[in-house]
Amino acid sequence: MKGLFLVFEGIDGCGKTTQINHLSNWLPNSGLMPSGSKLLITREPGGTSLGTSLRHLLLHPPGDQSPEPLTELLLYAADRAQHVSQLIIPSLKKGDWVISDRFSGSTLAYQGYGRKLNIKMIKQLELIATQELVPDITFWLDISVKESLGRRKLESNDRIEAEGSQFLSRVSSGFSEIAKDRKWIRLSADNSCNLVHKEITRKIKEFLLNT
Ligand code: TYD
Repeated sequence: MKGLFLVFEGIDGCGKTTQINHLSNWLPNSGLMPSGSKLLITREPGGTSLGTSLRHLLLHPPGDQSPEPLTELLLYAADRAQHVSQLIIPSLKKGDWVISDRFSGSTLAYQGYGRKLNIKMIKQLELIATQELVPDITFWLDISVKESLGRRKLESNDRIEAEGSQFLSRVSSGFSEIAKDRKWIRLSADNSCNLVHKEITRKIKEFLLNT
């Protein structure tokens, strides 16, 4: 792959979207991107038009038809398979840079640790849905469950966010385990937005120097 694939992970309210916005303003003028390469900002679930429908089914299912945990897992995997195949791999092959708000780590954390589905099964599914594509850098915005719930107090919850603090605590410790295992870059979301942004840009420069 000629391009660069960056992913942001973390529990809800950790500030991923804010950091992605900052980075997407900064990167094109940073002199780091090869000339002619474009920057694609995308997300899971919902990075493609099929994925947008899947996102709606996942987060706001019709009537009382909430998906079973296994169905939920397969819908996230279907969204990812489409996203990787239709958007991410073609972009990286062209030499473009891709930033994704969430990727397969979220499935391990939410469906694996949160829903307690079998981790081995999730990892097998991950290989299929991603075509074994691994992000170049994953940034994990670490925030406490208390802070996450506090920051989202005034917002309306989607189906996953409405699971409550015990579910979110399992997801949070899941992220912590996965981050260690996969050597993600941990950023303390308690730090100021600017400090976190600076750390992200420093890590990207460091990565590019070493590759
Ligand atoms: P996100 O788009 O980050 O939420 P928002 O835009 O509302 O901040 O993610 C939507 C929800 O989907 C979030 O609660 C996490 C959940 N999710 C999973 O449970 N598994 C997954 O594999 C992914 C990608 C997301």
